Amino acid sequence: GRQGPTVLMINDLWYKNAVIYCLSVATYMDANGDGVGDFAGLMRRLDYLSGLGVTAIWLMPFQASPCRDDGYDVSNYYEVDARYGTLGDFVEFTHAAKQRGIRVIIDLVANHTSDQHPWFMEARRNPKSMYRDWYVWSKKKPRGSNKGMAFPGVQKSTWSYDSVARAWYFHRFYDFQPDLNTSNPHVQAEILKIMGFWIQLGVSGFRMDAVPFVIATKGPQVRNPVEQYDMLRMMREFLQWRQGDAIILAEANVLPDTDMEYFGREGDRMHMMFNFQVNQNLFYALAASDARPLQKALKATKPRPKTAQWGMFLRNHDELDLGRLTKQQRKTVFKAFGPEPAMQLYDRGIRRRLAPMLENDRRRIELAYSLMFTLPGTAVLRYGDELGMGDNLALPERQCARTPMQWSTEPNAGFTKSKKPISPVISVGPCGYEHVNAAQQRRDPNSMLNWTERIIRMRKEVPEVGWGDFEILTTRDVSVLAIRYDWRNNSVLFVHNLASTPREVSLSVGIAGESSRLLVNLLSEDHSQAKAGGKHRFMLEAYGYRWFRVGGLDYLLKRSDIETESADRVTPRRQRSRRGPVAR
Ligand code: NOJ
Repeated sequence: GRQGPTVLMINDLWYKNAVIYCLSVATYMDANGDGVGDFAGLMRRLDYLSGLGVTAIWLMPFQASPCRDDGYDVSNYYEVDARYGTLGDFVEFTHAAKQRGIRVIIDLVANHTSDQHPWFMEARRNPKSMYRDWYVWSKKKPRGSNKGMAFPGVQKSTWSYDSVARAWYFHRFYDFQPDLNTSNPHVQAEILKIMGFWIQLGVSGFRMDAVPFVIATKGPQVRNPVEQYDMLRMMREFLQWRQGDAIILAEANVLPDTDMEYFGREGDRMHMMFNFQVNQNLFYALAASDARPLQKALKATKPRPKTAQWGMFLRNHDELDLGRLTKQQRKTVFKAFGPEPAMQLYDRGIRRRLAPMLENDRRRIELAYSLMFTLPGTAVLRYGDELGMGDNLALPERQCARTPMQWSTEPNAGFTKSKKPISPVISVGPCGYEHVNAAQQRRDPNSMLNWTERIIRMRKEVPEVGWGDFEILTTRDVSVLAIRYDWRNNSVLFVHNLASTPREVSLSVGIAGESSRLLVNLLSEDHSQAKAGGKHRFMLEAYGYRWFRVGGLDYLLKRSDIETESADRVTPRRQRSRRGPVAR
């Protein structure tokens, strides 16, 4: 065997290879028939989720709220909104999830509250109240109040006048979402208290909303906000002390050169971040059949501490933001996936669901999902995408892609017994619930649902993706993306054809030794044997994808439970392979 010290590494960071499923309680399952989804309904669907293979659920905001931004306007952080149930129902739910080995993470909306929150009401009413300084005020209309809107188009300014307070208040988002003065130590303490509260009720962490704005300096004088990264360390430290395996998944759509600031160079800030850079370039890659910008994005977001992880996603509950692409690239994506004005959200992005964007073409949907599951990180799915659910463009803004889950062919897709669902169920077109629903797909072995279940099962058998180091292989074909992962002397290889035409792929696996002569196809029987020169050559059908294990033995047999070197490879690949094949 290999020489060297045996180092037992932390090898149970659950989020490194989780399958996260995001849902909104309001639109998932209504148990009491009032038209609004609830925790009791969600609980009845836990076996469905467990069968699908998800290992963590991310709940969108469900706390008390006037719901003018789908719950991202909280009026009481310590209450479940009565429409969804009680705190008791919530605890029953987290407990039931835990019994099935499913973790729960919840949205933490700490940048702003609802304008109906008692803190804000008190702050506006009484300038002497301690809550006054929990928000961000200005006596005069600040300069630049028409800049920096998070929702340009729907939102006209970031400062609004409040006649009760007789002052202007700051709001990065809608005017009913006043920003908290997050630099105020009392506000910070309250945020920690909120985290501590939900941790105590059984959650495994938080999807933290709008992180760059949470940590930004705010005020009428602030022209260029500065990020106070230390706040992130403080939150992490608190959380880790309260519960060692709890995580924060940050929503931070930032440039790659600040990623490390968010993760923390010592891995002491955010555990996870959504990879927006890869997300946008992935859609460009799909639109243009060109893998190059995606490869660039993967390289740019490669550096991260070894305990950190990327959240990989396709679509979420917001629009597909294209702000990181060049003008030309953006044009290409709009043309391919959102050509009509109704599909767009101003110039910000595309507001559609995945399946209709890809013209309900199963080949393209599988390709997109195969990519999501095999790019470096942890997959975050959106409810309904496992069925290929669609959107309703007649609904305003982002509502179009937030319609109720389609369970069956019963009225209102089996989501509710009420005749008045909280949001209309999609009932017309190819994505209507009579064609797209869980009950039918469960019985059809070739359904999208069963495909998703199988791909999740296989994803769990390639832990290299979550833990390993990756290398992008050269294929000389801009439409073909080939990535190899190495971890604990094991390697897996994923090849994707972004083009609408078949491609012959020729590649070297890039590792020396016998093992790279055989590529075992994990999804079907066409394995690949290297040609005389050591290269592999095989055909990929239009939009085709392959998952290979290098060398072929089942990873369970080859895998060692103890790491013989640091989880992040210290020795560069090439140097290692010159020493010849690695003993197992
Ligand atoms: C980001 C959330 O994803 C979005 O839905 C919400 O409107 C804003 N943050 C404001 O909380």
